[in-house]
Amino acid sequence: MAKVDVLLGEKRTFYPPKEMVSQSNVKQWMDAHDIPDIETLYQRSQDIEWFWGEVEKDLVQWYSPYDKVLDSSDAPFFHWFTNSKYNIVHDALDRHMGTPTQDKVAYIFESEQGNVSTLTYRDLYNEVNRVANGLKGLGVGKGDRVALYMPMIPALPIAMLACARIGAVHSVVFSGFSPHALQDRIKDSGAKVLITADGFWRKGKVINLKTLADEAVKDTGIEHTICYAWAQCDVPMRKHDMWWDELVKGQPTECETELMDPDDPLFILYTSGTTGKPKGVVHVHTYSVGIALTLKWVFDLKPDDIWWCTADIGWITGHSYIVYAPLMLGTTSVLYEGAPAHPEPNRQWEMIARHGVTVFYTSPTSIRMHMRFGDEWTQKDDMSCLRLLGTVGEPINPEAWMWFYENIGKRRCPIMDTWWQTETGCFVISPLPVLPLKPGSATRPLPGFNAEVHDSDNKAVVDEGGSLVLTSPWPSMLHTLYNEPRRYVEHYWNENHDFVSGDIARVDSDGYFWVQGRGDDVLNVSGHRIGNSEVESALVSHPLVSEAAVVGRPDDIKGESIAAFVSLKMGVEPGDELVKTLRDHVAREIGKIARPDVIYFVNDLPKTRSGKIMRRIVRSALISKEVGDISTLANPEAVKEIEDVLSKNK
Ligand code: WT7
Repeated sequence: MAKVDVLLGEKRTFYPPKEMVSQSNVKQWMDAHDIPDIETLYQRSQDIEWFWGEVEKDLVQWYSPYDKVLDSSDAPFFHWFTNSKYNIVHDALDRHMGTPTQDKVAYIFESEQGNVSTLTYRDLYNEVNRVANGLKGLGVGKGDRVALYMPMIPALPIAMLACARIGAVHSVVFSGFSPHALQDRIKDSGAKVLITADGFWRKGKVINLKTLADEAVKDTGIEHTICYAWAQCDVPMRKHDMWWDELVKGQPTECETELMDPDDPLFILYTSGTTGKPKGVVHVHTYSVGIALTLKWVFDLKPDDIWWCTADIGWITGHSYIVYAPLMLGTTSVLYEGAPAHPEPNRQWEMIARHGVTVFYTSPTSIRMHMRFGDEWTQKDDMSCLRLLGTVGEPINPEAWMWFYENIGKRRCPIMDTWWQTETGCFVISPLPVLPLKPGSATRPLPGFNAEVHDSDNKAVVDEGGSLVLTSPWPSMLHTLYNEPRRYVEHYWNENHDFVSGDIARVDSDGYFWVQGRGDDVLNVSGHRIGNSEVESALVSHPLVSEAAVVGRPDDIKGESIAAFVSLKMGVEPGDELVKTLRDHVAREIGKIARPDVIYFVNDLPKTRSGKIMRRIVRSALISKEVGDISTLANPEAVKEIEDVLSKNK
């Protein structure tokens, strides 16, 4: 069989600039530990207890030291840094007080309307303590859950840190989620306090968040709703509701930090699974070790860097890499409230130039959106301040990789394609800025992590598609699923105590990983395994195509046949000729076997708020199944368009 899973990018390798290699944080660490080269680092770090015990020394400070780096006796419940006393807020804020970092800017905040304000580490420390004291006044204490439903404004990290300081467990629910989704999560976590805002700006309009929050708290155990006044829109305040300003009024700017045990939760973050009920992923305070190391090494942050991660704090990316890890490293981050291409497509590029952003981390979806606007929008602003780029969330098709490399990085900036999950807490498979890159591959498991691709007999395979598993534990791993320890064991761990990621990947003979997508997103056509994302990647590599969703349809002969839904670059006319061109194109890129049987042209594809194309919904529409609840999609109208196109083509 032709190798269907050879992605375009494997044909080319990109080497990092020499000075980046010699000056990198990882190289400095290697020098300090007499490690001569990167291969030796990968080898030595196989001893994970030695490795994590050695790296934590530079990253965290303990209230009382641990006995053992790792206790696996209770696997798959792993206990890291046993018997220590710790709180992540000490490393994020307290330790910077009395050092020059206290006057450094922690966040450069820009509202959608363009107002810029800055918060120093000292400002953040003071405000966090006032909120922490306010929460204590409401009776919130160690172990209590607090739901946060807030926009991308500094009050969100402040509220998270305030909870963590007093040992309360935050559960952030993305502000784009519906009241129904928020209600489910509040009920599941048993939160008694909700912190929200009156509203926020999105594409020039105010979204009234408090009204949505009010709808959600009905029939839940929420006793107090705290509302941050931001958009100044009219909101009803009911009994037991309280403005943020009232909560913090008169509160002192010092608050004692709660000493946490290694298994005490820091937060719950819900993530969708294959079943309807979201999984409450639990992370603990010592997850700090993994997130700080990976940010320091992969994005090589130095004291003068300006870091911009464009994710929403409502996702794990924001938790780990906008809030906790950058603060631990004393970094200056950009925080932006609004829509990425508002009011003009170059909003982000203009912000990079104006704030002097040096390291920029975004998603393939966002890159493809910018490709669609046209290259000219990337030529208006001087982005020579950039030195490193990164992506996360889905496989990046080599076409988008090249576009990002050329138009944003101007061929100077290596791209860190970071593979990880809500469950992993931190990057797992990712380049270091010293590693040669192959566009479309997240490269290798980082030092301290071990991954393999397994076939259906749980045997490691090379150059063959299979299930991506992590074969050793790591400090930022999920601790359990909230209230569902059995589901945690059954869903994630095989009998050898490998962590089963649920993704399908291939590892090539250089040890580079090619993640193809979720396991349930793999087609079986005539007995051949074809990743939906591979076909999509091939389609998107055509110059006229903007985005594609590829799904399978039951077929009597082939098992499954392939249907593609394609959105075209602006101004391109669809037609039968183009259908033929694209089918031939896929046949050329991957092989005839992956050629779509039908292609439908649409203006938009249904996406989650984090930008992931919802193939499952596309597929349900195709095979005339109930599409289910689409209220949490970013663009529910795209589903209607697909249904219309399908009924016209019956
Ligand atoms: C799933 C995890 C990790 C933060 C954002 C999403 C996919 C993520 C990559 C990448 C290929 C990727 C995987 C993974 N994914 N990063 N670099 N290359 N696929 O977090 O919602 O928990 O989703 O996103 O399928 O399992 P999440």
